[in-house]
Amino acid sequence: MSVASISSASDTAELAAPYGNGAGATASAGPAGSPAGIPPTAHKIRTHHLQAAKRAGEKFAMLTAYDQYTAQIFDEAGIEVLLIGDSASNNVLGNETSLPITLDEMIILSRAVTAGSKRALVVADLPFGSYEQSPEQAIASSVRLMKEGLVHAVKMEGGAYYAPTVRALTQAGIPVMAHIGFTPQSEHVLGGYRVQGRGDMAQALIEDAVALADAGAFCVLMEMVPAVTAAAVDAALTVPTVGIGAGNSTTGQVLVWQDMAGLRTGKMAKFVKQYAQMRTVLADAAREFADEVRTGVFPGPEHTF
Ligand code: KIV
Repeated sequence: MSVASISSASDTAELAAPYGNGAGATASAGPAGSPAGIPPTAHKIRTHHLQAAKRAGEKFAMLTAYDQYTAQIFDEAGIEVLLIGDSASNNVLGNETSLPITLDEMIILSRAVTAGSKRALVVADLPFGSYEQSPEQAIASSVRLMKEGLVHAVKMEGGAYYAPTVRALTQAGIPVMAHIGFTPQSEHVLGGYRVQGRGDMAQALIEDAVALADAGAFCVLMEMVPAVTAAAVDAALTVPTVGIGAGNSTTGQVLVWQDMAGLRTGKMAKFVKQYAQMRTVLADAAREFADEVRTGVFPGPEHTF
């Protein structure tokens, strides 16, 4: 089942834009492969659709995207949430960690993703250094992501300490997805890529999640958390949860697309499942192109003016 199938509930019906040019308010049949049941007027995924999914015991899918083509492909495939993750730092810009990516870089990538997608809820990460100083700094950074990157929501790493920031953002009209458990921006404090919330630490994670949800977070993402802890967090919240390496009890699941599609090589985290071998597909295409160039087969008459 998918989030879309719960959208027949009347509280999820979306009215046409009350003013303006109405762009985006035209009823559309939704993407190919879009699950049945979503009313044509609810052609955009909103935070309330994810919340309704949780209430109905249904699941939704989220993938990272960093450019217009992947955004379009995933959107048309029915992925409900697209994330411009600060993992773009490692997966697009070639940095070793997520720390170096800047707000300006995130905005450029966000603009590409929002240009490529029509239906998905598009969420952008607040990168390291763009929100920690104060709620005011977080609002200023998020406003840029929404005004210039045109995203619909932001994701922010951190626990209960950031509840006042989440409250300030939400009150400013900025939906927040909270990110707890392993938070890559804090890898130097956490001592590397380590599972969080084991044993006695589970209670602290639940308290973080509850504080962030009470402050207004519309969803709580958990990374690298034992399944039993993630299930307890999910049970403690009325808002939906998303997991990456957090077992199967969360409302949604997210993966980095290059991991999911097999573009990246090297050792994969235990939580990664590869659904394709894109690296092989691209390498084979590049080799064939090079062969045809060297042998004079390409360009043929059909490619020549
Ligand atoms: O930046 C990112 O891609 C993320 C996901 C791993 C959830 O935060």
